[in-house]
Amino acid sequence: MPFSILFQRELPHGLCVGVRLPEPSENAGELALEQLGADERAHAAGLPFRRRITWVGGRVALHRALERAGQQAGAILATERGAPSLPPGIAGSVSHKEGLAVALVAPAAGWRVGIDIERMRVPRAEIERHVLTEGERQELTALRQEERWREVLLRFSAKEAVYKALDPFVRRYVSFQEVTVRPEPQGGGRVQLALKGGEGPFQVEMGWEIDEQFVLTTARVTLSKGSGG
Ligand SMILES: CC(C)(COP(=O)(O)OP(=O)(O)OC[C@H]1O[C@@H](n2cnc3c(N)ncnc32)[C@H](O)[C@@H]1OP(=O)(O)O)[C@@H](O)C(=O)NCCC(=O)NCCS
Repeated sequence: MPFSILFQRELPHGLCVGVRLPEPSENAGELALEQLGADERAHAAGLPFRRRITWVGGRVALHRALERAGQQAGAILATERGAPSLPPGIAGSVSHKEGLAVALVAPAAGWRVGIDIERMRVPRAEIERHVLTEGERQELTALRQEERWREVLLRFSAKEAVYKALDPFVRRYVSFQEVTVRPEPQGGGRVQLALKGGEGPFQVEMGWEIDEQFVLTTARVTLSKGSGG
């Protein structure tokens, strides 16, 4: 069933819900509107059908995750930066790829969260140079080809999750060269920021999961204690 729940998981950075997306079509775009309350429907109705399906999938995933966390939200529209606008006290994030939308929600308590999902497939050749810093590329030199593209994909995804969690604080585009991520074997990892604007300092965490189909990454960010923010 389109927009049905595919999975629900307690992850280190929040509660994650995944929702099935239909194949894009005009008809699926019409049906998508039925998933929403009035204000969200009014927004979604103005989107082209492909974009409408992913937007609706993200909202359905967010609402399901909030319900399971014992929270409620009215219409979840977007902030002026493009993130989902959630009620005070709740942090949340959305990502979608063909067939799947995922949402992550958590009590905010000073933190913001990010989630990203990528299809498990060989990334385009130019992605590595664009996404990894010179230092990260050095770290990958000993890897065999398949391990290497997986690591590139994982770091790409982790940086997008970090971006979503960081943007509410810095409110600007942060390039992939300003962030170094080092995934660790058990699903965690280290994140180092070298922000051009000198913002922060921030405490940043990342997490990840991989199966045959998808790479799923999460992040959370808060101002470091004693930073005065
Ligand atoms: C915003 C961005 C991360 C979205 O990633 P994407 O792979 O294109 O798309 P995804 O499906 O994973 O995520 C889309 C969701 O991101 C969220 N999003 C968009 N802008 C956002 C922002 N400024 N802050 C937080 N979340 C944002 C939205 O919820 C959006 O879904 P929705 O519009 O349906 O609600 C990406 O397009 C981008 O601009 N990246 C900036 C550079 C970057 O990633 N730097 C990494 C180093 S920090």
